[in-house]
Amino acid sequence: EKGGYKHFMLKEIFEQPRAVRDTIAGRLREEAGDVYLEDLSLNDEQLNGVERICIIACGTSWHAALVGKFLIEEHCRVPVDVDIASEFRYRNPVINNKTLVMLISQSGETADTLAAMRESRRRGATCIAICNVVDSSIAREADGVVYTHAGPEIGVASTKAFVTQLVALYLFTIRLGRARQIMDVERGRKMIAALVRVPALMEETLKLNEQVEKVARNYLHARDFLYLGRGMNYPIALEGALKLKEISYIHAEGYPAGEMKHGPIALIDENMPVVVLVPEGDNYEKVFSNMEEVIARGGRVIAVCSAGDEEVKKKVEVALEVACEDDDDVNPIILSIPMQLLAYHVAVLKGTDVDQPRNLAKSVTVE
Ligand code: F6R
Repeated sequence: EKGGYKHFMLKEIFEQPRAVRDTIAGRLREEAGDVYLEDLSLNDEQLNGVERICIIACGTSWHAALVGKFLIEEHCRVPVDVDIASEFRYRNPVINNKTLVMLISQSGETADTLAAMRESRRRGATCIAICNVVDSSIAREADGVVYTHAGPEIGVASTKAFVTQLVALYLFTIRLGRARQIMDVERGRKMIAALVRVPALMEETLKLNEQVEKVARNYLHARDFLYLGRGMNYPIALEGALKLKEISYIHAEGYPAGEMKHGPIALIDENMPVVVLVPEGDNYEKVFSNMEEVIARGGRVIAVCSAGDEEVKKKVEVALEVACEDDDDVNPIILSIPMQLLAYHVAVLKGTDVDQPRNLAKSVTVE
């Protein structure tokens, strides 16, 4: 049932263009520059009444939440807080009936996320969920759901569920922006058009597989990795580091590239590979100069850049060239792929149990 792939994880990585198409399917209203979310259960009036959004999740789903903050604040101008469920539920969070709480959970059974939802409802918030498992506990108890249609995810390390969470957040952003009339038809149409191109760009990006495998061979003996990104790609750096930790057991940290100079730059030496997410777009110059700082201190950079970026290529040890969009907003989806492939190949070469990493369970139903 692995469909010819060596592991479920690799199969699921390659399934992502299909998973994204399924998550989009039937939801676009291209003419109106809007989307239809069949189980969201909130009308325009309710969406207009929202004063603040809290997105709550754990692990990989929390990384998706961080991308969601960027999308929603940029396009809808609603303040968004992002919380780790196990932190949120033991605080005294400021939540009221004008707060929209969004829970993100692949399994829909994560105990901390479920508890955070129950606490939020007790305080009067409306709760919506982004879930992959239909009729899971979180999906059932929420006021509304945006389902991801990734299909069953078997590999413990989340891949296709994550990218479809990003797609669900993107769709939700369009709906919210259009409902609140802060996003005009033109902008809605442009966002939809960019999203529609994503599966093909993902297919293109999956062709990096063989190159990434070769890269992995040169770095698998490193004890630590650093992942750097800025803006919406900062959560993707966190996700890249988490994937590597989970399945290869190599220590890795994700950092906002601009924070390097406030401490972590002291770690840089020739033994620590630094993965830098440096696609063309809003933060390009800034990340580029952060990358130069790393190189100047002897760091070995694996850059993930836009296809044909000669400036980056002549500076770094390895460049993974990715087919990015002009539109920054969809790039986190595409850049996730080289992150997943790098972790996967390092783990395979190290001989770890990729689909069932030690100490981890697919759904964490205990606190
Ligand atoms: C990482 C991973 C975990 C989950 C986390 C939340 O690859 O799978 O970090 O993301 O346990 O799980 P869900 O999304 O099911 O609530």
